[in-house]
Amino acid sequence: MNKELRSAVIAGNWKMNCGPAAAKALIEDLKPLCVNAECDVIVCVPFVDLHVALEATKGSNIKVGAQNCHWAESGAFTAEISAGMLKELGVEYVILGHSERRQYFGETDVTVNQRLRAALNAGLKPILCVGEVLEQREQGVTEEIVRMQTKIALQGVSEEEMKNIIIAYEPVWAIGTGKTATAEQADEVCGQIRKVLAELYSEAVAQATTIQYGGSMKPSNAKELLGKEHVDGGLIGGAALKAADFFGIIDAAK
Ligand code: PGA
Repeated sequence: MNKELRSAVIAGNWKMNCGPAAAKALIEDLKPLCVNAECDVIVCVPFVDLHVALEATKGSNIKVGAQNCHWAESGAFTAEISAGMLKELGVEYVILGHSERRQYFGETDVTVNQRLRAALNAGLKPILCVGEVLEQREQGVTEEIVRMQTKIALQGVSEEEMKNIIIAYEPVWAIGTGKTATAEQADEVCGQIRKVLAELYSEAVAQATTIQYGGSMKPSNAKELLGKEHVDGGLIGGAALKAADFFGIIDAAK
């Protein structure tokens, strides 16, 4: 098994939850719990919490990410945030292509690719989200959809740049629904993504890339999911908002 080659990464996606005060409190609760974490721990917080989160995590092993960035360096894009702005603030990671962005804000594989390129150029580490909707799973096209999303998002990304990319497989039907993919389903699709990476780059890149599962992961199912060969971590929504639950998943990544 090549799982040992890859860093286990547990990332919280707070979505549109917690203002700065609540963000500070949640991080203060998490810090003592995470001191002996055996995986990388990231909190991806709303833009307005980034400053507080960066201050609160200083000297700890918790890293900070944003939840999106724009593809342009600057310009007339009201309300948008560029990758360079995030980098200047000290942010290390950025979630890109989350299904909620695709579903509610019209993001496409092409704009996800543009954002990913911008993030890499600015020196951020993208967490690229891919995943099928329920109808696509029922139509039997999960592999095709996830392959296409992965290939388009990675257009123009070099083998060297792949070292800075995490991929998160998030079946849309499992996000926030309480319906988790079975460990076998998660492993199967994460394995298919790894196969795409081998085709696009090399077996070495495929084996070295961290692939997370996301979608109703919680302390009670984390161990089984994270125990699978191709599942190297988790992207956690709901369960990332309570320190004890998030830590329960971090602990399961041992
Ligand atoms: P969930 O969200 O854990 O609440 O299902 C996961 C995600 O959207 O990243």
